[in-house]
Amino acid sequence: MSRTALQINLPLEALIGQMEAQLEAAPLFFGHSTTSAWEDAAWIAMHATDQDMGQDEFDWQLIPNAAQLQSMQALLDQRIDTQKPLAYLLNEAWFAGHRFYVDERAIVPRSYFGEWIPEQFSPWVDISGVKRILDLCTGSGCIAIALAHAFEGSTVDATELSADALAVAQENVKRHNLQSRVHLHQGDLFSSLNQRYDLICANPPYISHDRMDKLPTEFLREPDMAFRGGDLGLDIVARLLQQAPDYLNDDGVLIVEVGTAALDLEAQYPQLPFTWLSTDDEAMALFMLNAAQLREADL
Ligand SMILES: C[S@@+](CC[C@H](N)C(=O)[O-])C[C@H]1O[C@@H](n2cnc3c(N)ncnc32)[C@H](O)[C@@H]1O
Repeated sequence: MSRTALQINLPLEALIGQMEAQLEAAPLFFGHSTTSAWEDAAWIAMHATDQDMGQDEFDWQLIPNAAQLQSMQALLDQRIDTQKPLAYLLNEAWFAGHRFYVDERAIVPRSYFGEWIPEQFSPWVDISGVKRILDLCTGSGCIAIALAHAFEGSTVDATELSADALAVAQENVKRHNLQSRVHLHQGDLFSSLNQRYDLICANPPYISHDRMDKLPTEFLREPDMAFRGGDLGLDIVARLLQQAPDYLNDDGVLIVEVGTAALDLEAQYPQLPFTWLSTDDEAMALFMLNAAQLREADL
């Protein structure tokens, strides 16, 4: 497809505007580590000019050289032509302030957990009591690794059914030099574990059959099994709720992302006193239950 080429001798600020306009005109979805066409454009510009997205200041007035402009144009074209999330094109995603390696074997990190982990779930979780942590359905390992960074004295177990996703998580554990504190296990939910935890986190598959058919193309580039949650989106969440009491210490806490399945979850479990953690976009997506509440419900 022919489109207007990026112009030479323009500062990044202007080039980002040109890219934003082209991205907005294309049938794209923005929600994989970025939330808008402008953010995708800025990420392309900074990547092509070797400006690390983890830094605080960017040189918006920099005029890219020919090679950098060519790299920008190539990324813009690929993003539009393939409808792949930019994170896959760059093999990079940012989550909870950390950089992660990503490829199509695991979904792009973007969980609401990214808002709460750097805050150590304050005031909901007693930090001093958190020594052993479990991350179920770890995918790229982003939640497990961010938890290990946020809770410095802790050890983190992480489970994942997909060997492919686990290979990505392995790469990230290595890149973050956390081999001694983050331990990866392949298996269905808790099946590979035999101990109790102070904090269990999970971002499981929770998309219902109906919603699966309506996902934007970018989601189709990601592993299907990361999303499929059955009729209501609650198949895996239901098993998780049933098994969690056996893996929580008496003062333990369970925090789970259920996104679009939140209302169905409340309807299915009227006996559970869910606490919904706030999110920047005011979504009802992340719930918390403690061990006592789960045991009393006796699911
Ligand atoms: C929504 S993704 C979350 C990945 C990662 N935690 C994140 O936030 O980016 C759900 C993950 O659960 C994995 N999964 C699916 N069924 C599972 C099961 N029964 N047991 C363990 N992991 C499972 C998928 O392969 C996928 O990586």
